[in-house]
Amino acid sequence: MTVLSSASSFSSSLITFFLLFSSIITLTTSTSPTFIKFLNFSLQNLIYSSPSTPKPNFIITPTHASHIQDVVRCSKANGFQVRVRSGGHDYEGVSYVSDTPFVIVDLIHFRKVSVDVKDETSWVEAGATIGEVYYHISKHSDRHGFPAGVCPTVGVGGHISGGGMGFLMRKYGVAADNVLDAEIVDVNGKLLNRKSMGEDLFWAVRGGGGANFGVIVSWKIRLVRVLKVVTVFNVPIRLEEGATTLFFKWQNEAHRFHEDLFMRTIIQVKNPNANKTIEVLFNSIFFGTVEKLLPLMEKSFPELGLERINCMEMSWVNSTLHNAQLYGEPIEILLNRDHPKTYFKGKSDFVKKAISIADLDKIWKIMLDGDDKSPVLINDPFGGRMNEIAENEIPFPHRSDWKDGKKSPEYIDTIRRLHKYMGRHVSKSPRGAFLNYKDFDLGVNTDINGIGRYLKARNSWGAIYFKNNFERLAMVKNKVDPENFFWNQQSIPPLSSV
Ligand SMILES: Cc1cc2nc3c(=O)[nH]c(=O)nc-3n(C[C@H](O)[C@H](O)[C@H](O)COP(=O)(O)OP(=O)(O)OC[C@H]3O[C@@H](n4cnc5c(N)ncnc54)[C@H](O)[C@@H]3O)c2cc1C
Ligand SMILES: *[C@@H]1O[C@H](CO)[C@@H](O)[C@H](O)[C@H]1NC(C)=O
Ligand SMILES: *[C@@H]1O[C@H](CO)[C@@H](O)[C@H](O)[C@H]1NC(C)=O
Ligand SMILES: *[C@@H]1O[C@H](CO)[C@@H](O)[C@H](O)[C@H]1NC(C)=O
Repeated sequence: MTVLSSASSFSSSLITFFLLFSSIITLTTSTSPTFIKFLNFSLQNLIYSSPSTPKPNFIITPTHASHIQDVVRCSKANGFQVRVRSGGHDYEGVSYVSDTPFVIVDLIHFRKVSVDVKDETSWVEAGATIGEVYYHISKHSDRHGFPAGVCPTVGVGGHISGGGMGFLMRKYGVAADNVLDAEIVDVNGKLLNRKSMGEDLFWAVRGGGGANFGVIVSWKIRLVRVLKVVTVFNVPIRLEEGATTLFFKWQNEAHRFHEDLFMRTIIQVKNPNANKTIEVLFNSIFFGTVEKLLPLMEKSFPELGLERINCMEMSWVNSTLHNAQLYGEPIEILLNRDHPKTYFKGKSDFVKKAISIADLDKIWKIMLDGDDKSPVLINDPFGGRMNEIAENEIPFPHRSDWKDGKKSPEYIDTIRRLHKYMGRHVSKSPRGAFLNYKDFDLGVNTDINGIGRYLKARNSWGAIYFKNNFERLAMVKNKVDPENFFWNQQSIPPLSSV
């Protein structure tokens, strides 16, 4: 384990940390390259990397659950906030930025994945990435997979505790739907499992955001069955090739396709300089062979004109590489935690009713009028298994119809305008958004103990992320962390009674 400190002199809390951890390896100051190197490593959003971004007082990289227990107790006793970081992909940098004195518990050494094929389960330490999960499953079985996200460097600590959507969700639901047990260190430094934490807390950490309730140490997940061969195909269509009508058709159909067929769309501006246009990429995977896919497409979406030449058969694990644009690399690349960093801002919506052709044209116009780097719209269809799970089964409430997320590098104005315009077309009362695509524009907590903090949160971001599950989450919070120690700008406030 390493404890990195930004202290330039020995404060009493520093000494406490010293006494606590006999195995301290490194101690440096906040300006030292080692400190910044550790801070930087899993920092994925460069918006939060500037010298003026507040830095932690300590970065701790535990190697044993007892270290996490000690850090929680010690931080609480010394008035430090705890920010837990697994993969560091938080859209708003919550896992490594805070305005108050704070400690980062970085789970970079918590990445063991033990696979039990016979039992079709796996224990996954919270600091593992989803790429590491996919890799280890594939080393044990070519018939199993796990329904999580696309980018392999995303950490399971944040990802699963926020829901976790990916290419298998129409068949098996979100990642959090497939959690069987969990280990968590609570606010008192106690290490709990499903049995000792109780069903309320176990419900809450599956989609309610782990950081509200403690430090997730590991998950027990259910492996899902995949065929030995899956088929991927990507078909790009531009405006001048009829993209608008095809996308319109896709909106009405994709959530009704066979659950083995997952087709999302990625919309972006092409040719920024001359002949600027919009491209809709039909980014797809079929859980079966080309032989089975072609007649299904003929029936479900003939307008796309899919041909054998557009398709590639491969193992499921290789399809995860393909989805991440890493196809052709050895699968060991899934173990690489070094993700190319960018500046980004993301937003999400759940679209319940198809957007008309006329309105699509207006959306294209906003995108085309944007800066030379305009937002990318990623649209994921729901339906299939997603429709079968009740909204209150786990805190992740967005189930039927289809979903739309957007991500923009740098050019936040255009994405905010687009989001405002999209407001006319997406889920209402309340508008829905996905916790994993965290967005502070939806509203933030201003203080830890303020009067009315529950209603304020519910009426802004709370109901948007969690719909009616927000109240239960706030009551669980009150049970496990009544003093609101695990606080951040969008943490769930404790609610003692309705
Ligand atoms: C490039 C990119 C691609 C993405 N693709 C997808 C996708 O395909 N599908 C999808 O659903 N989402 C996707 N996301 C969103 C991603 O799932 C969330 O940002 C998720 O929270 C990241 O988890 P993390 O552990 O990497 O992040 P972190 O920044 O480490 O953590 C995110 C939040 O979870 C908390 N947290 C982390 N670990 C723990 C823990 N062990 N215990 C308690 N709390 C913890 C943090 O404190 C923070 O609040 C993507 C994000 C990026 C940047
Ligand atoms: C940390 O990241 C920032 C932003 O990318 C960069 O400017 C800086 O040089 C990095 N520092 C170290 C020590 O890696
Ligand atoms: C733009 O379109 C015109 C008309 O189709 C074509 O002649 C020209 O070569 C295109 N320019 C570029 C850079 O593609
Ligand atoms: C994945 O694809 C690569 C490149 O085509 C291939 O060499 C490798 O055998 C495949 N691995 C698996 C597990 O299918």
